[in-house]
Amino acid sequence: MAVISSPGFEVSELLLRVKELEEQQLDLRKSVICAFNQMLDLKDISTGVHSTRLAEWAVRVAREMNIPENHCYQVEVAALLHDIGKMGVPDAILKKPGRLTDEERAIINRHPEYSWSILRLFSGLEQASLYALHHHENADGTGYPAGLKGQDIPLVSRIISVIDAYDAMVSNRAYRAGLPHAEAISRLLKSSGTQFDSDVVKVFIPIAERDTEAVFAAAGTSISAAF
Ligand SMILES: [Fe+2]
Repeated sequence: MAVISSPGFEVSELLLRVKELEEQQLDLRKSVICAFNQMLDLKDISTGVHSTRLAEWAVRVAREMNIPENHCYQVEVAALLHDIGKMGVPDAILKKPGRLTDEERAIINRHPEYSWSILRLFSGLEQASLYALHHHENADGTGYPAGLKGQDIPLVSRIISVIDAYDAMVSNRAYRAGLPHAEAISRLLKSSGTQFDSDVVKVFIPIAERDTEAVFAAAGTSISAAF
């Protein structure tokens, strides 16, 4: 007599296998994202620590702005890899010490589109790719690549724009010391409503005052390493 396997057993086996495959896919995606971050580091586009801090800042601001928890992964990846498109800009332009020509500036300004074209190839990261595409839009419509204005710019892109500017201002670089926190905040406020989204700036300032130490610690650095 043929033995009929229990349908309940088969379903639970299948569910287990699906779960395993989903976990493997997530692990693979995480590894590829880490590898891309490492590539950015090797190309010396931004330090890995800067990117890690951006991911930390982005999630904190996103939560404060009521972005759903299940969307924070897209926010984190977009913050981490928004500049990945700079891989496509020649070093002679990217690292040119002097003033850029209009033509060179135009080439650099294509990097958000390059970031989009890379990130959109990751299955499940389509939204993160759009956030990267618009991270250089300005609130008053003078940014690029699309010249989007105000609320037409995705909220996550507006968040990345603010935290990227702040973190870059306060960080020490090989060629200059970081600005004091108060000066960086005053610059954000000065460009609030023109370059930066005023709501995001408003939400970000208390977070910057409250969480700087935690963000630097989470990225494995102390504040003194950057300020
Ligand atoms: Fe950028």
